[in-house]
Formats: sequence, C-alpha cells, structure tokens
Amino acid sequence: MQQDTILIRREGRVGILQLNRPAQLNALNDELMDALGAALLGMDADDGIGCIILTGSSKAFAAGADISAMQSKTYMDAFRQNFIGRNWETILRVRKPVIAAVAGYALGGGCELAMMCDFIIAADNAKFGQPEIKLGTIPGAGGTQRLPRAVSKSKAMDMVLTGRMMDATEAERAGLVSRIVPLEKLEEEALAAATFIASMSLPSVMAAKECVNRAYESTLAEGVLYERRNFHALFATNDQKEGMAAFLEKRKPEFRHD
Ligand code: CAA
Repeated sequence: MQQDTILIRREGRVGILQLNRPAQLNALNDELMDALGAALLGMDADDGIGCIILTGSSKAFAAGADISAMQSKTYMDAFRQNFIGRNWETILRVRKPVIAAVAGYALGGGCELAMMCDFIIAADNAKFGQPEIKLGTIPGAGGTQRLPRAVSKSKAMDMVLTGRMMDATEAERAGLVSRIVPLEKLEEEALAAATFIASMSLPSVMAAKECVNRAYESTLAEGVLYERRNFHALFATNDQKEGMAAFLEKRKPEFRHD
C-alpha cells in the first residue's frame, strides 16, 4: 500500500501538516507537493483553522527536491512542466499564518519551502543549506532570492556558492529562524505559538501577515501606507471593539473572528 506523503491533523484551531517520505528524508516530489498544496488550500478555506504548522521528522524537515525524479529531466521537460512553479508556490497563496517547525535537514528545496513559510522555529538539531551547487545546478525554488533577504548577501552567497550547511545557532544569529528550541520541545513550542496566533482575531492576523509580506514587495512609503489603510480597516471589525473593550475592562477578549 502506498503511504500518504503528507500527514494531516488538527489540534483545536491549528492545522498540522507533516511531510512524510521518511525513507527519502522527505525529498520533495510532485506527488508530495500536489498533496501539500491541496492540504494547505483546504486549511486556508476552513473557518475552524486559524494557523497552520508545516513540519517534517526529527531527522529531516526536507532534504530538498527529489533528485531521482529530477536527474533525467531535459530543459524542455522542466520548461513545459513549469517545474517548481506549477505546484511549489501554492503556499504563498495561503492567507493564514504558516509556521515552519524544522528539525534536522532543511536543504535545497527544503530550506526554500521553510523560507516560504511565515516564520521558522528550529529544533537545536536543525541544519539549513542550499547544496544545489554540488549537483551542478542552482536553487530553483527561490533560494537565491529569499536567502539574501533573510540573512544578508554575504552569507547567502557563501551558502549558495559553497553549499555548506548552517546549524540552528548560526541560522538564528543570521535571522533565518525566529527561535531555537530543544528537539524534544519542537512540537510543543510550535503548537503553543500556533495556538496563541489562532486565538487572536483572524482578520487582524491575516492583515498583519499581508502587511509584513508587503515589506518585501514595496518601497517603505508604499508599505507604510498599505499598513495604515489596513490599520484603519480593522476599526470596522467587531474583534477590534472587543479586544480594546476587554483591555479596558481588564478581562480576556473573546474574539469571534469577524
Ligand atoms: N532526493 C532524493 N533522495 C534523497 C534526497 C533528495 N534530495 N536526500 C536524501 N535522499 C535519500 C537518499 O538517496 C537515501 O536513499 P537510499 O536509502 O535509497 O539510498 C536516503 O534519502 C537517506 O539519505 P542518505 O543515506 O544520504 O542519508 P545521510 O544521513 O547519509 O545524509 C543528507 C543526509 C546529507 C541530507 C544527504 O541525503 C544529502 O546530501 N541529500 C541531498 C541534499 C541535496 O542535495 N538537496 C538539494 C536537492 S536539489 C533542490 O532542492 C533543487 C531546488 O532548489 C528545488
């Protein structure tokens, strides 16, 4: 029997997606990326979910695109199939937050997939890298673009040109990951962060994500204007009235996500 390439579960308002090709260290193939895209869009459309966690195993988040599925591709195959573009970037269409909980290897496409998430919580055994240069190629899922934005040009060049791995400490120091936790606490810490986010007002969470992402796509003045308009718009929500009333009344807010 074929095993599922993605394991899907739910804890309260948190959706958890686990990459599941353990024998291949979660190497990312078409079947897995199609399943991941469908699961992500399903959770994004589900009113009962407020935050998503994407994770792998304790040994590997993902060791990259599946090399055995790529090795014999021709240029025309890659071009006609729109390789990478066809099914790897569905995650960028998700409007709810997606947290990458990374243990073990996050290499090549695995590192790129983690960087497409909204933030990365790393276990202390995490290792990040863009080793494509050693395969006679280059990153193909945004690594040459997102890594310099995350860690500076110098470190990104170093990683992409030498293919060396960064451990969790270096990745946190460089700004690639937001926090490091002991491996045995990874799931608990990611779930705590996701549960907290999912308990906030969904419209403000979605607006916050959209505004931070805008920082990468606009000038400072345009980005600040975009933020201002969203800030103004949130005065139209019931949750803003509830959140501020709860603060003034010294009680916990009860957000209804509208
Ligand atoms: N694709 C396909 N299979 C992979 C894989 C990958 N990216 N990474 C690991 N595997 C497979 C191995 O072939 C091996 O399979 P077998 O048992 O059938 O031989 C199994 O997973 C376990 O791997 P190793 O025996 O190599 O495990 P290790 O602990 O000795 O080494 C590793 C771990 C350092 C991660 C090593 O597996 C490795 O270097 N993997 C390749 C990493 C890589 O180059 N990634 C970039 C891919 S290209 C890419 O991602 C392009 C892009 O930008 C989209």
